[in-house]
Amino acid sequence: MLLNLGNIKIHIEKDFSTACELGANIIKEKLSKKPNSVIGFATGGTPIPMYKHLIEMCNHQEINFSEMVTFNLDEYFPISKENDQSYYYFMRENLFNHINVNFDNLHIPNGLASDVEKECADYENLIKTLGPIDLQILGMGLNGHIGFNEPDNKFTQGTNYVALQESTITANARFFNSIDDVPKKALTMGIKTIMMSTEILLLVNGEKKADILEQALFGEISPHVPASALQLHQNVTILADESAVANILKRF
Ligand code: F6R
Repeated sequence: MLLNLGNIKIHIEKDFSTACELGANIIKEKLSKKPNSVIGFATGGTPIPMYKHLIEMCNHQEINFSEMVTFNLDEYFPISKENDQSYYYFMRENLFNHINVNFDNLHIPNGLASDVEKECADYENLIKTLGPIDLQILGMGLNGHIGFNEPDNKFTQGTNYVALQESTITANARFFNSIDDVPKKALTMGIKTIMMSTEILLLVNGEKKADILEQALFGEISPHVPASALQLHQNVTILADESAVANILKRF
């Protein structure tokens, strides 16, 4: 089912894997039209089924990643690339090691940068130089964060160094041995960086995201719900399962 809100289109599927297949096809189409497309990638649990579909398509030679340029949204800080909880490691494990990418074209903020402010500025400049990002993939936190832009009194601008909120640390503890191992800080593209992308693909699943998704799309545009900024973007596609849009469907 497709809900068309003008600048925001919501594809709703019973099964989230079907929604993710649709997402993989959107990426495939982008790369077939423009092989050197700049794609912004997200980590977290949500996009994993879409990455599985991309790997499968690549195995069947239905998609070509050889010229793709990538920028990941974020990285914990401090964390080494070898740490299996780093987003660098995550992307290689869940996607990049299994597809025909050129590793020189992949960009992820450096979780061990000696000068974090410079790392953020350099990352932002590189996005400006190689961008714009043609398609930015996003997940959304339970508190409405996108990237690691946590609820705050103002929207972030460029790539920045942030402290993670307690709710994010708790939510992400499921990937670590203990909550104490979850890094407390991160480097993340800012809301403005994300908003500069030509097109945005937001993946959301599960009933636990239903309230925040409704707030993000129908509530006040406010930095207290960072994803609400997407209401101001011209081209957003949301791929969701039925439970994530349960509240939204009641509005129609
Ligand atoms: C990950 C990221 C985060 C996640 C969000 C949802 O790169 O930027 O904003 O998308 O925390 O995480 P999951 O998908 O694990 O629910």
